[in-house]
Amino acid sequence: MVDIQEYLADRRQVVERGLKQYMLPATGDFSVHVQAMRYSLFVGGKRVRPILCLAAAGCVSDDPEIDTVLMPAACALECIHTYSLIHDDLPAMDDDDLRRGQPTCHKRFGEAEAILAGDGLLTYGFELLSNTGLPGPDGATRLRLVACLAGAAGSLGMVGGQFLDIDSEDKDVAFERLQAIHRAKTGALITAAVVMGGMGAGADSRQLEALTAYGTAVGLAFQIVDDLLDVTASTEQLGKTAGSDAEHGKATYPAFFGIEKTRTLAQEAVDKACSALASFDDRAEPLRALAQYIYSRTC
Ligand code: IPE
Ligand code: IPE
Ligand code: MG
Ligand code: MG
Ligand code: MG
Repeated sequence: MVDIQEYLADRRQVVERGLKQYMLPATGDFSVHVQAMRYSLFVGGKRVRPILCLAAAGCVSDDPEIDTVLMPAACALECIHTYSLIHDDLPAMDDDDLRRGQPTCHKRFGEAEAILAGDGLLTYGFELLSNTGLPGPDGATRLRLVACLAGAAGSLGMVGGQFLDIDSEDKDVAFERLQAIHRAKTGALITAAVVMGGMGAGADSRQLEALTAYGTAVGLAFQIVDDLLDVTASTEQLGKTAGSDAEHGKATYPAFFGIEKTRTLAQEAVDKACSALASFDDRAEPLRALAQYIYSRTC
């Protein structure tokens, strides 16, 4: 049995060390720009995507060095996720003032500076992943990871999902559209985190199929719970402004189904994620525990 709190505390430490090691230093001509990137990256965050990536790797590989090998990939995921948060908070998007318990990047550094901090983190993520001077899998596998991350972050993934999210504000959307938004804006990057971990650790096609199913289900659950917390948790608890979704007329699960039914759907997604892992042994216990955590988290 995995003690999820202990596990998360340990994994977060490992990820923080990796981020500190690999993030650009804020020195020289670009210091203020890099400071803005570092501000948003290090101000907090649960580090769910890098943790999922390393957990998926541990599920298929016994290599004691696997965390080290995949750390640049794990950090790339967190850079790209953080960029998505910076842009998500901009006045033209969700117009939020608080993120990870602190003023949003544009509140702290200015709007143009925040756009560029996001651009910088997006690009740097791909540099980390593709730089053969850093640890990583063999060249061909590395290229597959780059393609996987680019697809998930791009127009048929996170960016496209963000477009649909904005385009659906103040509209009555069909359930299929709501599901498409959630799968794309949040599910795609979370699925990529899991798949990249497996791929980077040498998973075979059957294992990758199972990890993809797990990632898809857990990614959907993650955004459903994010919607729920926006309604049920406080701003202090979340470190971001509660009630922001209703204020912006967002297409969310609670708006569509109400709170109780939304909880049931989140639990169903988590159950589906765990059944996708049926063929894995005990090394998948962290992924199973992470799925439950994604349902029961309070921030
Ligand atoms: C928030 O993501 C935005 C979504 C995609 C739902 P997280 O809840 O993972 O935010 P941090 O990284 O912990 O701040
Ligand atoms: C954002 O969804 C998903 C991203 C790609 C950043 P939300 O807009 O619900 O995320 P929060 O609630 O602001 O973190
Ligand atoms: Mg948003
Ligand atoms: Mg938002
Ligand atoms: Mg939200």
